[in-house]
Amino acid sequence: MKRGNPDKTQPSPPDAAADFFTRSLMRWHKHDNHRTMPWKGERDPYRIWLSEIILQQTRVEQGWAYYERFIRTYPDVRSLAAAPDAEVFKLWEGLGYYARCRNLLKAARQVVSDHGGVFPPDHGAILALQGVGPYTAAAVSSFAFGLPHAVVDGNVLRVLARYFGVQESVDEGPVRRRLEAWAQRLLYREDPGAYNQAIMDFGATVCKPASPKCAECPLADGCQAFRLSCQDELPVRTAKPARRLRWMDYVIPVFGHELPLRERTGRDVWRHLFEPILIESPMPTDETELCAHPMLLAMNGGSAPGVYECSDPYVQLLTHQQISGRFLVFRPVTRPLLPDGYQWVDIAELPSVALPRHVRQFFDRHSSLSAG
Ligand code: ADE
Repeated sequence: MKRGNPDKTQPSPPDAAADFFTRSLMRWHKHDNHRTMPWKGERDPYRIWLSEIILQQTRVEQGWAYYERFIRTYPDVRSLAAAPDAEVFKLWEGLGYYARCRNLLKAARQVVSDHGGVFPPDHGAILALQGVGPYTAAAVSSFAFGLPHAVVDGNVLRVLARYFGVQESVDEGPVRRRLEAWAQRLLYREDPGAYNQAIMDFGATVCKPASPKCAECPLADGCQAFRLSCQDELPVRTAKPARRLRWMDYVIPVFGHELPLRERTGRDVWRHLFEPILIESPMPTDETELCAHPMLLAMNGGSAPGVYECSDPYVQLLTHQQISGRFLVFRPVTRPLLPDGYQWVDIAELPSVALPRHVRQFFDRHSSLSAG
């Protein structure tokens, strides 16, 4: 922080600064917001909800194609609710954070069973849908129904922390709650949906995390961070705990045109997705250890495979975990007995099986494991 303490821990933002903020933001949205997205101006709550679920933890550029594919495949909430789980998981493949997909299905079925297939025009009822938190409920109820609920996510916290010069961590409960109250005060009540879209786009294109475009910012005249040249230090965030490290290697005995997979179950990552034979270890393994693993020996008539291919390590970063490992492919001479839970799958079927992203990438790169 360079000079002074701009944060007076005031219970609400000063009215003049708040009014300038809202007026300037809405003017920017009307004249200078050129961000295009397929769901912009959309009023159908199903489409809005779907786009918001896809955009949780996904960049707009990546989510766009998924959104269009989902809308084409399931044009309304009833068709999504009636779809087989495996088909929806397949369409979701590559987006990650599969809890979102499970919640998507549950919420679609809730809308059908509890609301007759019609999204309820009520903030509380939208918030009660599976996988819908305060941010998504505010987005859906304002975009679809014009209800006065302000969105608050990391982008909004950044914009507000800079504009009002908040020097405390926005991850602290009381600070976050204060900013949520301010966000609600700043909402443009005549058009809450336009306001929410404006602040999302403004945070993404002008008040960006790195290299904010202060020279062209319509809020610069009222912005405390700009006045004090501390844009790059705000918002203050509390350091996150380190990710849990895990080592997951996969062995893939290919017999004829088949290889074994199982569906992941239980409360762990990638639930409902399919994976090859997994060896999870408390420490990283090297290629030699992997080749001598009892599970692999059991599948290869008791000896290590003479010929095999071992991949370079993959690394998957999830929110709370870092998972790394390798894939080892070999061709046993007799059909091995599989560990519990695995079943033989024809390689030609792989394109229609939902796989974690690193497994799909491995199969795609490995020509003998890609169908076609
Ligand atoms: N991020 C999440 N929802 C969004 C939306 N509707 N527009 C732009 N970015 C978003």
